[in-house]
Amino acid sequence: MTSGPPDRDAALELDSSSPLAGRRDLFDLPAGIVYLDGNSLGAAPRNVSERMRQVVDREWGSGLISSWNTADWVNLGRRVGDKIAPLIGAAAGDVHVGDSTSVTLFKTLVAAARLRPDRRVVVLEPTTFPTDAYVAAGVARTLGLELRWCDPADPARTLDDDVAVLALTHVDFRSGAMYDLARLTREAHDVGALVQWDLCHSTGAVPVDLSGADADIAVGCTYKYLNGGPGSPAFAWVHPRHQPTWDQPITGWFGHARPFDMDRAFEPAHGITRMASGTPPVLALSALDAALDVFHGVSMEELRAASLSLTDLFIDLVDTRLGDTFDVITPREHDRRGSQVSLRRDGAYGVVQALIERGVVGDFRTPDVARFGFAPLYVSHADVFDAVDHLVAVMEGEEHLRPAYAVRNPVT
Ligand SMILES: Cc1ncc(COP(=O)(O)O)c(C=O)c1O
Repeated sequence: MTSGPPDRDAALELDSSSPLAGRRDLFDLPAGIVYLDGNSLGAAPRNVSERMRQVVDREWGSGLISSWNTADWVNLGRRVGDKIAPLIGAAAGDVHVGDSTSVTLFKTLVAAARLRPDRRVVVLEPTTFPTDAYVAAGVARTLGLELRWCDPADPARTLDDDVAVLALTHVDFRSGAMYDLARLTREAHDVGALVQWDLCHSTGAVPVDLSGADADIAVGCTYKYLNGGPGSPAFAWVHPRHQPTWDQPITGWFGHARPFDMDRAFEPAHGITRMASGTPPVLALSALDAALDVFHGVSMEELRAASLSLTDLFIDLVDTRLGDTFDVITPREHDRRGSQVSLRRDGAYGVVQALIERGVVGDFRTPDVARFGFAPLYVSHADVFDAVDHLVAVMEGEEHLRPAYAVRNPVT
């Protein structure tokens, strides 16, 4: 008997026996689309549009300003943070949600560096997401610090007792490679440095245990695997041991201990609330609040098992049906893989465009990477099977070489 990757019936069987079977119905996905871009923008949970109608018509429309109290808008960021907390191994009350990821990274990195005032270096890895590097450069300029680039294969080797903060992305946006969060945190602590983790490509797809790892600081966006909607606000977690002396740079009135006393002097709020700066984005937070309900009753272990099963199947099918057409740059080891698979080859942009034309949505990252994200709540094994079927057809028909794909769209 030959063994090989499953056929489509076997993929359907894997879907029907999954503990996550039925979760896809919670999402409003267009018919006929295989959506493998939840690592860039998560699909829309069905309950979000109804919630937005309620917030706009009732809370804002009828309730007007009283909704700050009657609809508890004033605590919405904290309540949303409490829903994210179990997904990242954090305690309720320790997660703030409100600004963009980039702004949050600036605030946390300044505050982290201020916790190590005698140290002058921030370490980054050179393949990090651009905003992480740009923000760190801005922080370094603001505080007079030095940026040091590490070897992505071994970030801890660059650490010494000049290093205030090691700032890493847990799952790499381009390759989908995942760092060992607990080990690197330990190694940084061994030299007295703090670690700031960017969890954009982890949260909602990969188990993260910040408390168990004794981590210091984490930031993540909410529009990818958390499905909060385009531009939904980011979260920040700060270990409780750092909160009493946490000194973030944008000390606005919502981070004050008593904002409505309108005092002249700034007195930071207790705990993670001091991460707040200005009026919270109530509409965006409301959408995110509703979106997070799709995680209700799902364990991170179930989610991880489903994610690995999907990415294993994709890699297996690409290997067996496409040979060496692509270089699979995502690690094959489970403990080094996030929830995406990235394929490299010349002409990857055309490959992605030709797939989109066929209803299989992935994305392209310069210079030559096609990325496919597997959001386990709504991507099925049958989707994976169909996506590879289309990929084979694109390559056989040389559809990726169409002249229309010679010029890239500004947002790819
Ligand atoms: C690792 C990482 N950090 C940050 C960001 C984006 O930051 P912002 O939400 O401010 O655009 C992204 C976006 O894809 C990302 O992948």
